[in-house]
Amino acid sequence: MKFGVDYYPEHWPEERWAIDARLMKEARINVVRLAEFAWAKLEPEDGVFDFAWLDRAIDTLSREGIRIILGTPTAAAPKWLMDKRPDMYPVDEHGLTKGFGTRRHYCVNHPVYREYSRRIVRAMAEHYRDHPAVDAWQIDNEFGGACYCQSDLEAFREWLALRYGSIDKLNEEWGTVFWSQTYRDWDEIILPAYAASDGFSQNGGGARMTTPFNHNPGLQLDYQRFFTDATADYQRLQIDEIRRFSELPITHNLMGHFSELDYYKLAEDLDVVSWDNYPNNMWGKSSPASVAMAHDLMRGVKNRNFWMMEQQSGPCGWHAMGDTPEPGQLRLWTYQALAHGAEGMVYFRWRACLFGIEQYWHGILDHDGIGRRRYREIAGIGEELEKLSGLFVGAANPNRTALIKSYDNEWSHRAQPHNLRFSYGALLDQYYRAAARRQVGLDVTGIHTDLSPYKLVMMPVFNLVTEEIAAKCEAFVARGGSLVLTFRSGTRTWNNRMTEKTFPGLFRKLAGVELEEFDSLNFGRTVPVAGVFGEGTAAQWCDVLKLTGAEPLADYAGHYYAGTPAVTVNRFGQGRVYYVGCDLDDAAAERLLGYILEQEGIAGAIPPQAAAGVEAVSRRAADGRRYLVLLNHANTDALVKLQGRYVDALSGEAICDQAALSPYGVQILLEAEGV
Ligand code: GLA
Repeated sequence: MKFGVDYYPEHWPEERWAIDARLMKEARINVVRLAEFAWAKLEPEDGVFDFAWLDRAIDTLSREGIRIILGTPTAAAPKWLMDKRPDMYPVDEHGLTKGFGTRRHYCVNHPVYREYSRRIVRAMAEHYRDHPAVDAWQIDNEFGGACYCQSDLEAFREWLALRYGSIDKLNEEWGTVFWSQTYRDWDEIILPAYAASDGFSQNGGGARMTTPFNHNPGLQLDYQRFFTDATADYQRLQIDEIRRFSELPITHNLMGHFSELDYYKLAEDLDVVSWDNYPNNMWGKSSPASVAMAHDLMRGVKNRNFWMMEQQSGPCGWHAMGDTPEPGQLRLWTYQALAHGAEGMVYFRWRACLFGIEQYWHGILDHDGIGRRRYREIAGIGEELEKLSGLFVGAANPNRTALIKSYDNEWSHRAQPHNLRFSYGALLDQYYRAAARRQVGLDVTGIHTDLSPYKLVMMPVFNLVTEEIAAKCEAFVARGGSLVLTFRSGTRTWNNRMTEKTFPGLFRKLAGVELEEFDSLNFGRTVPVAGVFGEGTAAQWCDVLKLTGAEPLADYAGHYYAGTPAVTVNRFGQGRVYYVGCDLDDAAAERLLGYILEQEGIAGAIPPQAAAGVEAVSRRAADGRRYLVLLNHANTDALVKLQGRYVDALSGEAICDQAALSPYGVQILLEAEGV
C-alpha cells in the first residue's frame, strides 16, 4: 500500500533531505508526492529547464526505498510567464482580474497558458520517462471553478456551437425569446457574468443563495457544464503529454464535496481518483458523517477505490490554526478513509513550512524539523498497515444502497433553489446522515452508474431529467429495485427549462402520484406531517399530491391541505417507488429512512443502538474475507455490542458479544469462520 507524505524539498536546504528521507523510512513512509508547485524552480527562465535539483531529491529519497508521485507544476505558474500575457490571469464574475501572489492564477482556456503547460509537462515527462523511482503522476492540483475571461468566452461559443449545432436550436433550448435575449450568431453569446438585474441586495435578508445572478437558467447551467469540459480538456492535454513517455497511473487530487466541477466527467480520463481531506481546520470542522460521505463520493466517482493524496496530519489553517488533532485522531481519520475505499494514504505535509501563507499548515514534523507525537502516531500507523494492507487494497464496500448525486442537478438547484432555504447539498447530506445513523453503507455516485447491484436507490430532488434517465429508473424498479424520489423531482428538462408535463414529469408513472399544487414554506411557517414514521415537520416545501396508483405512508396534518398525502409508495413491476413530497426535520427523516430500509430488508453493519458515536463499516477484502471496521469518533471509551464472532485483525484476539474501543479508537474485526 502507498503510505506517504507530501514533500517539498525545494523548501529546505539540500543537507536536510537525507535526514528527512531517513526519518520517513523509519516511519514506514514508502512514497512521496513532489513538485506540484515547483514550476519556477523547474523552468526558472522561459524554455530553460532545471531538473537537476529534483533528480537529486529523488535520488536521496529513493536511496531509502521511497518511491515518487510526480505532480505537474501548472497550479503555480512563475511570474516570468504571467508577465508575458497578463490576460492569462483569471477574471471573476464582476470582471475583476485575480492577480499574482497565490496560486491557480490562470485560466484553463487560455491558448498561451495551455502551450506553456504542454511544454513543461512534456519536458518533465520526457526527463522522468522510465525513471525507476517514479510510481505515478498527479496532474496540476485541485482544479477549481469557473473563470470569465475573453478566452473562456471564445471557447464557450465553440462549445455551444458543437452542442447545439445551430443558433436557432440554442435559442429554443434556452428560451431566449424571454426578455429579448435572442442571439443571432454565436459571436453574440455572452458569459453568465454580472448583468443589469444582478445584485446581492435582491437576495433578501439572510437568504442562502450562493449565486446572486439572474441569468437565463439554460445559460447558467451550460456554463457550468462547459467549465467542467474545459477543465477536463486541459487535464487531457497534460495526460496526453505524459502518455507519450509513460504508462504509469495518472491521478488528480479532487476535493470531496467541492461541486464546481462535475467530478464524474473530470475523472473519466484519470486512472485513479485521489482526494484531499482536512476534517478539522481554521474554516471548520467536518462531522464524521460528512467525511464518510465525501469518501463514499470519491469512491463513487469512478466506482473504484481511491487514494488519499493529502490527509490532514496536524493543526492547520492559513491565517489561523484549527484544532490540533488529538491523540488517536490521525489514526482514526486514516482508518475511516481506508474503510471507505482508500488504498493509498499520503499525508499533508511532511514538515511545517517556515514561510508562505501555509506556514501555519502543520504536518507531521513541526517547524523545527523534530518529529513528536504526530510523527510517532504516523509511524505506528505505518507499522500496522504493513500487516493490514492486504485487507484494504482491492477491498470492496458491498453496499446495497446508492445515493445519487448529480452535479447538473446541483447547479440547477443552486441557481434557482425553489425555496430560499433549500440546498441540494444539505438535503443529500440529510439522507446520508440518516443512513449513517443506522450504520447502513451507501455508495454515493452518479446516475450513469449501473443500478443493477442495488436494492435501493435514493435520488432526492432530481429535477433535471431525460427520457433515458427515466427509462433507466423504470427498468431498475421493474426488475425489483426500489427507488426514493422527492419533491421537485422531474420538474425540468435536461437543459434546465420547466417541463410542460404534469409534475413529477417523467417520474409520474413510476411514482404513481400527480401534483395538484405545491407550497413553498417561507418566513418561519411550518407544516406538521404524520405517518409511518411518526410525526415530523416540513419547513421548506410541501407537494400537494393526487394519488394515481400510490398509497399514502404519511399525510399533512396542517394547513389547507391537511389530510392529503405527503409521502407515498407505489408498486411498479417487481419494485417500489417511495415519493417524499416534503422536506422533513432530521429526526423524522431518519425514522422515515429507517422505515424504508426495513421494508427493503437492508440492515446496517451493526444495529443502530449498538453504540453511539461509533461508525461501523462492513467490507469484503480482495481475498473474500469479510470484516468490520469500527471507528470511535468520540474522545470517550465506547462499547459496541456485536452479533457474531470476530477476530481482531491486529491482535489476533477472539471477539464475541462486544468490542471495547478507546477514545478515537479503531478496531478491524474479521468475521470468524463458520459464523
Ligand atoms: C490543498 C492543497 C495543498 C495545500 C492544502 C492546505 O488541499 O492541495 O497544496 O495548500 O490545501 O491548504
